[in-house]
Amino acid sequence: MAPASSQRATPAQPAPQPVRWAHWAQLSHWQRLPAEPFPSAGHPGAGLAQAHLPPEWAQAYRQLSVGRPLPPGALVALSLRATADGPPERWLAMERGGAGWRYLQLDREGFITSRDDERCRRCHAEAPTDGLFGLPTP
Ligand code: HEC
Repeated sequence: MAPASSQRATPAQPAPQPVRWAHWAQLSHWQRLPAEPFPSAGHPGAGLAQAHLPPEWAQAYRQLSVGRPLPPGALVALSLRATADGPPERWLAMERGGAGWRYLQLDREGFITSRDDERCRRCHAEAPTDGLFGLPTP
């Protein structure tokens, strides 16, 4: 006789619900830096990048330096697009927690497609200011 466990029907797994980034609704009010998207050096194949910051962190991000990192609570998003006048195709985001940065990838509608990918952390660990590369130097 087969063991009882093999006779139980396996319940169908519900498809995971897509989750939008908690800050998605505010993003359109954030400051864009610089004014025009620039060719992304760090994310190959990503096309043009532009940083988006809540107004309270924008000045600090512009003036990033080794002695002045962004504090816990800070948020930085990077939109990626193929052409300067086209809409973003996807987004990268970083959230500064007490223990360091968390890394997220978002689709064009703000749904989270990856969290804390080790590649993000490894490369950003090489960034000049506490995990941040900052704006391209003109
Ligand atoms: C090989 C290196 C590399 C990898 C891997 C990488 N980044 Fe970056 N990232 C950069 C560089 C360089 C910049 C500066 C802007 C640019 O060139 O796009 C940057 C900029 C950013 C910014 C703007 C904040 C800042 O650093 O000034 C965010 C947000 C970001 N990356 C998120 C991510 C996320 C999320 C991942 C993983 C999915 C990731 N990055 C993977 C190199 C990398």
